[in-house]
Amino acid sequence: MIDLRSDTVTRPTRGMREAMAAAEVGDDVYGEDPAVNALEARVAALLGHEAGLYCTTGSLANLLGVWCLVQPGQEVVCDRQAHIARAEMGAHGALHGITMRTWDSADGVTDTATIARTITPDAGPYLVSTAAVALENTHNFGGGTVQPWDHLVEVSALCRDAGVGLHLDGARLWNAHVATGVPLADYGRLFDTVNVCFSKGLGAPVGSMLVSSAANIARARVQRKRLGSGWRQAGVLASAADYALDHHLPRLGEDHAAAAAFAAEVSASAPDAVELSAVVTNIVVLDTGTLPAAEVARRAADAGVLVSALGAHMVRAVTHQEVSVDDATTAGRVLGALLAGVPAT
Ligand SMILES: Cc1ncc(COP(=O)(O)O)c(C=O)c1O
Repeated sequence: MIDLRSDTVTRPTRGMREAMAAAEVGDDVYGEDPAVNALEARVAALLGHEAGLYCTTGSLANLLGVWCLVQPGQEVVCDRQAHIARAEMGAHGALHGITMRTWDSADGVTDTATIARTITPDAGPYLVSTAAVALENTHNFGGGTVQPWDHLVEVSALCRDAGVGLHLDGARLWNAHVATGVPLADYGRLFDTVNVCFSKGLGAPVGSMLVSSAANIARARVQRKRLGSGWRQAGVLASAADYALDHHLPRLGEDHAAAAAFAAEVSASAPDAVELSAVVTNIVVLDTGTLPAAEVARRAADAGVLVSALGAHMVRAVTHQEVSVDDATTAGRVLGALLAGVPAT
């Protein structure tokens, strides 16, 4: 099977497992796990922030990041396809009393004017006040799209001038950094709170980091415990993330090359299914045309390729460290033939 469902399916490598076995650990709820403390300091510095909080998941880091900026009864605004809107099980509303309003976009990237029109800070007694904007970079359901640098600078200034917080779901910020060459700290400094994940393309088994000011992180640490997610010898996992930063971050460009190879192969048979210029990182979104996405995913699985059906006519393929360019090319041939309605050769 060539598994392109997600980059979360990656398993720890031998080197990563050795690093985990060798980790120096302690009780993180007491603040005594050296591997966790070192990772929090390392990633905060990488992203140009004062402090970090190592979390079980990206969903938790997003939940806490937005919570730092938005009070109950206020709103966060984001893209309609944002992970926080579609895939976090309503946690921001269900657990923190935060409402959410969205703007529309084709690929997860909108213009600054649309965001300016959407926000309503200090809306008084009639409307819900916007307390934060959330962006996603790269944008998962948008097809791994990268937010343009100038747009990020503009939105950061817009939020600062409007007194509105700015959160980044940077689950795959690593991929944006590799694709654009923009330093991670330059990205990080534009936002009040940032989530980055180690369990996607970086290949760690578990874990994400929330970074922000020391004051926000101190509050978020209490709320994390309140949510039942304080953990103990988490350094076994933090050492996997540390290893990933050293050994897997530098190879992410290979995943981007594999995604481009996959998309090119699909396009050779089914040109309407994919926009090649939109494939810039490790995610490829395919338009299945008149075919139901679930049927395409089922038939692809029968032919040895796993992809995700994410909409009625949308299939997603994600490359990662367990998929070579050759695998991606083979998979692209299978999907291309399926979408073109011809048998694969
Ligand atoms: C863009 C984005 N944000 C957040 C998350 C949440 O991460 P987790 O699955 O660790 O909760 C994901 C997961 O795939 C994601 O793609």
